[in-house]
Amino acid sequence: MEYFRLASGIEIPAVGSGTNSFAKVKDEVGSTYDGHTDEVISAIRAGYRFFDTAESYGNEEAIGNGIIESRIGRENIFISTKMRTRIMGQDTASWKPEDAVSAIERSLAKLKTEYIDLYLIHMPWGNDRETAEVWKVLEDYFERGVLRAIGVSNFTIDDLRPLMDSCRIRPMVDQIKIAPGRWNEDTVTFCQYNGIVPMAWGPLNFDTDREPIQAIGDRYGKSWAQVVLRRDFQNGIVTIPKSHSFQHQKDNLEIFDFELTEEELRRI
Ligand SMILES: NC(=O)c1ccc[n+]([C@@H]2O[C@H](COP(=O)([O-])OP(=O)(O)OC[C@H]3O[C@@H](n4cnc5c(N)ncnc54)[C@H](OP(=O)(O)O)[C@@H]3O)[C@@H](O)[C@H]2O)c1
Repeated sequence: MEYFRLASGIEIPAVGSGTNSFAKVKDEVGSTYDGHTDEVISAIRAGYRFFDTAESYGNEEAIGNGIIESRIGRENIFISTKMRTRIMGQDTASWKPEDAVSAIERSLAKLKTEYIDLYLIHMPWGNDRETAEVWKVLEDYFERGVLRAIGVSNFTIDDLRPLMDSCRIRPMVDQIKIAPGRWNEDTVTFCQYNGIVPMAWGPLNFDTDREPIQAIGDRYGKSWAQVVLRRDFQNGIVTIPKSHSFQHQKDNLEIFDFELTEEELRRI
């Protein structure tokens, strides 16, 4: 495994496992939660040491249980989770510092852990003043060592700027959609210029043609998925592919034994 370093000084694995459909009856994000831990245990067996979850996925408990059942040791696993902000169908979200305190405490309890490696605000909700107040709670938990790194998700440059102006501690990560056809290059560049590590959600979930990407993979004996994940790594982007298949889980970690050329990077 390769690692990137966050502004707090801690290392984050370059590839983590997405989890948004883990512990669900039909392996689908919206299906019923049944708490099974098979995918977490299989991912740890495949070599994952980083899980990305969120309160809104409703599966933090299964992620925590899977880590415990695997006996890998909490200290060997990096966990990111997220504060549920904008709720689907509700345009008038309002979030207060006490909501952030409750959300962090709920996640700690569900994950059965005393600390969270990376805690993110899941979505901007368009209120800079409230965001700044909620962020102060994250800063406080960070300074107490309960959150080892803090960041945001789905923040655009326009969302990041006011937060960076008002905060004492800058976000260390912005988890955004990064995939072929939607590279979000402006936000990635802005983040990297400002010491914020970009993280790619949905890295393998895209509509553009996979064939040209597979043609590049064929040169190295790699799949289109491995080429895309390797592109993230070479661009300094943490990536969190999710799979319910042990073989895919393993494949998605096997991206550190080849290197894409500049010309190939431009063509993906
Ligand atoms: N912050 C946010 O707002 C946000 C939003 C969405 C997602 N996320 C996070 O990002 C994670 C990843 O995103 P995602 O789950 O939407 O999509 P994804 O990881 O980009 O794609 C998942 C799909 O790719 C397939 N797949 C995985 N590895 C493969 C491989 N090697 N070859 C071929 N197919 C492969 C999976 O099928 P199989 O199961 O059959 O392998 C699954 O259908 C989520 O799980 C979640 O943790 C965050």
